[in-house]
Amino acid sequence: MSPRMSRRDFVKTSAAAGVLAAGPAAAQAPAVASRSARPVVVSSANGNQYKNGGAKTCVQEAFDRMVKGEDVLDALIAGVNIVELDPLDDSVGYGGLPNGEGVVQLDASCMHGPRKRAGAVACLEGVRMPSKVAQAVMDQTDHHLLVGQGAQDFARQVGFAIEDDLNTENSRQQWLEWKRRLDPSRWLDPQKRSEESWRVTRELMAEGRIDPSHVYGTINCNGVNAKGEVCGVTTTSGLAWKIPGRVGDSPILGAGLYVDGDVGAAGSTGRGEANLYGLSSYLIVENMRRGMSPKDAGMDALKRVKAATIEKRLLNSKGEPRFYVKFYIVNRKGEYAGVGMYARQDGKDQTFAVCTEKGPETLNLEGLLGEAASE
Ligand code: GLY
Repeated sequence: MSPRMSRRDFVKTSAAAGVLAAGPAAAQAPAVASRSARPVVVSSANGNQYKNGGAKTCVQEAFDRMVKGEDVLDALIAGVNIVELDPLDDSVGYGGLPNGEGVVQLDASCMHGPRKRAGAVACLEGVRMPSKVAQAVMDQTDHHLLVGQGAQDFARQVGFAIEDDLNTENSRQQWLEWKRRLDPSRWLDPQKRSEESWRVTRELMAEGRIDPSHVYGTINCNGVNAKGEVCGVTTTSGLAWKIPGRVGDSPILGAGLYVDGDVGAAGSTGRGEANLYGLSSYLIVENMRRGMSPKDAGMDALKRVKAATIEKRLLNSKGEPRFYVKFYIVNRKGEYAGVGMYARQDGKDQTFAVCTEKGPETLNLEGLLGEAASE
């Protein structure tokens, strides 16, 4: 793994990136006016973690393809495919943690800034790389979102292989463990069910059985090339143990991903319901359109998420959100930020991935709040 940077280093680097990207004369100009950019790919931390047995991580693969002149979205999707196919990332694609009935259901979306096109799939079963199906929806239909059986039928019709089961031995064993520990009476009371499910999930995390950042899973990856062309993709197995049919933020344009080719891109990992409620990715891009930096635009969205979180079951002992939400943001000049509700959670600095001409790096993200309180 690449060396991590301190938050101070990251802020310095981001600021320098902005100056480099725009040049001294353009530094005064609004974000939307620049026609050239410093190429960058930014993603959730798993984008610089998994290689699926190959040589490169997601951000590295996407960046290398992008600077060779490949279409930005094609490059980003080739990057996230590495994570979707890697059985070790149990939050995305093949081997993603399944729903409450033990079935892997995948969500994905993609947006192409210059072409002003988008595609998405939700509750898709049997296809390891849902991001590619989302791209096929974008390229081959007049629609933006296909779900469930319809999404699978479409995937089959355009040539994707459909598999019976995307569980790996790991994802199946984790599901069996979750199921075994649950009190069947939870189904009678939605409040109790939510509390019980969270209690068991916390147990599994504390025992090191599942990675805390994989409960809401997901990879989001956004990029801009030297021409200032911006694209983004988000792909996930969604919330672990979700009610079958639950759709998170990842495939919903404006929630788990939003791209405006004239402004920039934002995407998310973490509690999808929070982003569905506030359409956070759209909010971030609109904030940048009004002149905010990527970091400030993301912090504003986090404040909104925090303000909208008032239910006791969603609050920790300090009255703050007991879930995580993170945003990965780039504007069309190539300035970027990774921000999250907490700078530190479960005793660890929270991170994101980036690739520039310096190569792939894992950086500490900026937290709206410091250390997440324990329950
Ligand atoms: N952010 C992923 C999900 O909630 O499904």
